[in-house]
Amino acid sequence: MALEVEPAVSLRGDLAVPGDKSISHRALLFGAVADGESRFTGFGASADTLSTAAGMRALGAEVEVEGDAVRVGGVGLRGLQAPGVPIDCGNSGTLMRLLPGLLVGQEGRFELVGDESLSRRPLGRIAEPLAEMGALLETTDGHAPLTIEGGALRAMRYELPVASAQVKSCVLLAGLFADGGRTAVVERHPSRDHTERMLEAAGARVRRKAGEPAVWPAERLHPLSLSIPGDFSSAAPFVVAATLLPGSSIRIHGVGLNPTRTGLLDVLERMGARVAHFNRRSEGGEPVADLEVEHADLTATAIGPAEVPRLVDELPLFALVAGMARGDSVVRGAAELRVKESDRIETVKNVLRPLGIRIETAHDGFRVRGVPTRPKGGGTVDAAADHRIAMLAAVAGLVSREGLSIEGAESVAVSFPDFFPMLDALAAR
Ligand code: S3P
Repeated sequence: MALEVEPAVSLRGDLAVPGDKSISHRALLFGAVADGESRFTGFGASADTLSTAAGMRALGAEVEVEGDAVRVGGVGLRGLQAPGVPIDCGNSGTLMRLLPGLLVGQEGRFELVGDESLSRRPLGRIAEPLAEMGALLETTDGHAPLTIEGGALRAMRYELPVASAQVKSCVLLAGLFADGGRTAVVERHPSRDHTERMLEAAGARVRRKAGEPAVWPAERLHPLSLSIPGDFSSAAPFVVAATLLPGSSIRIHGVGLNPTRTGLLDVLERMGARVAHFNRRSEGGEPVADLEVEHADLTATAIGPAEVPRLVDELPLFALVAGMARGDSVVRGAAELRVKESDRIETVKNVLRPLGIRIETAHDGFRVRGVPTRPKGGGTVDAAADHRIAMLAAVAGLVSREGLSIEGAESVAVSFPDFFPMLDALAAR
């Protein structure tokens, strides 16, 4: 059933978004292979992170989730047990790409499967470097199902062919089990570095150098005790909606502002947005602050490959922002969008065109003609079972003149189950 999003006059009030999804996955993965009990607060419970919780339980770790509090009883770095049945990664690319980095260091045979969308996404990007390190694994034509049977691993220096924190993390995790010293990953444009930060917090020897992080083999990981910051990617739809709607003023509390994640703030700032940071602090080894966002008129901008990894999950929202700015905006070097939960270059176009926004697509990005008025809206769009596209459609409906009806809006549960009620609570109509 389609969900109707009515236009809003403005967005006003205070909110806190759920815990960071990338960090929540890693909390479960690394907690499961630590020696002893890890505890986390601020956990972002969603369909994706609960797939990881179930997966780690199937592998023998004790995982208790109670609201946003999580306790993980770790089994040790080499203590995961083959469950004898496939591990279901659901919709989660992060689970499907990071877990193999741990499984190549275990005894036994493991099989990983995913839902229809995840089964379309490429796995060669992790299978190739892992095989180069000596792992025995097999994909299904470069996709899931994936089987893994360990193997003696050799350290290596790997140049990432695509900017991907998931691939980087997978290789670094395998490096914990490799002979021959340092495993390094070379990335032209640095991607999110939560893995490096958290492995260091767990006592692994890590070189946290942007552009060439590295790890050394480890015997064990210490348990972690962390408070997980709010997810910048879940805050982003609110930041964008408040920026676009005249009269808006919102405060978002406790948002993670890791510089490898906040490209959207830099982009918005150069377009003329008004976003202030308060109460800067550090939580769980990550920078955190409260954000205050007010409406502003925006001018167009260009985004190139160096900036893309820092806002890869926010590029769909950027397309809407660009559609309401003064002038033409362009995104290049973002071919990765085509292999996300949907082909986000096409699905962004499919959501924005019916609104009256003029967007031209390219193989690695898009160009948007900005018109600084509210788009018309009034139609029905398909979220393509992609949570970020559903949130884009919701913000688009909110800032349009006639609202929007969204098919597949329930996919927000993948990262942010309470998204719609929270948006509704802030929207003045
Ligand atoms: C993630 C990395 C990104 C991002 C995804 C989460 C992670 O993917 O799109 O939502 O947690 O490492 P890539 O690294 O493949 O770009």
